[in-house]
Amino acid sequence: MKPENLLQQQSHFAFGKNWLDYARKIDEAKISQAMVDLRQLSGRQRFDGLSFLDIGCGSGLSALAAVRLGATRVTGVDIDPDSVKAARWVFAKFAPEFPAEFQVRSVFDMTAAEFGNFDIVHSWGVLHHTGDMARAIKAAGALVGPGGEFYLALYRKTPFCGMWRGIKHWYSKAPPSSQRRARRTYIFLRKTALRMKHQDFDAYVQGYARRGMDFYNDVHDWLGGYPYQSIDPDTCHALLTRFGFEVDREFVRKSRWPLRGLMGSGCDQYAFHRVRHVA
Ligand SMILES: C[S@@+](CC[C@H](N)C(=O)[O-])C[C@H]1O[C@@H](n2cnc3c(N)ncnc32)[C@H](O)[C@@H]1O
Repeated sequence: MKPENLLQQQSHFAFGKNWLDYARKIDEAKISQAMVDLRQLSGRQRFDGLSFLDIGCGSGLSALAAVRLGATRVTGVDIDPDSVKAARWVFAKFAPEFPAEFQVRSVFDMTAAEFGNFDIVHSWGVLHHTGDMARAIKAAGALVGPGGEFYLALYRKTPFCGMWRGIKHWYSKAPPSSQRRARRTYIFLRKTALRMKHQDFDAYVQGYARRGMDFYNDVHDWLGGYPYQSIDPDTCHALLTRFGFEVDREFVRKSRWPLRGLMGSGCDQYAFHRVRHVA
C-alpha cells in the first residue's frame, strides 16, 4: 500500500474490524436479501456475463450477490485491509471456486489503465467516507465502461449533518468503552423513538433486513463512519451529469419532516449509466 494511503487510513474509522465481525453473521438468508436489493437497485434480474467492480467492498456481500446473479468478472477494493480480509473470508466460505479479486486500494489510486473498464461499478455507502466525495465519484465513474452502469448510495444532506460529523469524528477516535456507551445511548434513543410510534424494538431488530445487514453492526458503522459528507439528490444529479452520466432510477427519501436526520441521515440510492466520456 502506498504511504499516503496508510496516512489516509489512519484518519479513517476502522470500518474493516466491523466488517470482520459482521462477516461471521452472513448466511444464505442475508445473501438472498442482498441479491433482492441489488436487483432492485440495478433494475436487472440477472448480471450474466457482466463485469462488476465493488468500490469499498466492506464484507464482500454485494460482490457475492453479484456472483450469485451471474457476474463473470468480480473485483472488490477497499482502503481498509480488514475489509479485504473479511471479503476474502466470505468468498472462501460461500464462493470458493469463483476467481474474485480483492485488493487493498483507495478509489483515488485506481485507473482504467490498470484495472480496465467495468460493465457495472457499485459503491454503496462509501464515497461520502473518502474525505473528498466529488473527486471520489469522478474517480469511481472513470472506471465505468462505455454505456456501463454506476450504482451509488450516498448519505442524504439534512440539517443535522454538522452535528453528526462532530459525533462521528469523536467516536471514530474514542476508546472502545466510550464507543460502547455511545452505542447504548443511541440504541436507547432509537427504542424511545420506536415506542413513541407504538413499534416494538425487538421486532424491529429482527426484521432489520436492509441489504442483509445487521442492526448492531450498522449502529457502530453509523456512529463511527468518518470522514463524513452528505449530498442532496439535485446536487448529485448535477455532479453526475458533469461527469458524463444519466440517471436511470433512484430511491431517495421524500420526507419533509423538520427533524429528519436527527437519528441518522440514511443513504439515497442511485443507478446511473454512462452517456459520454469525460477526461
Ligand atoms: C460504510 S462501509 C460500506 C461497505 C460496503 N460497500 C457495504 O455496502 O456494506 C464503507 C467502506 O468504504 C471503505 N472506504 C473508505 N474510504 C475508501 C476509499 N478511499 N477507497 C476505497 N474504500 C474506501 C471503508 O473502508 C469501508 O469498508
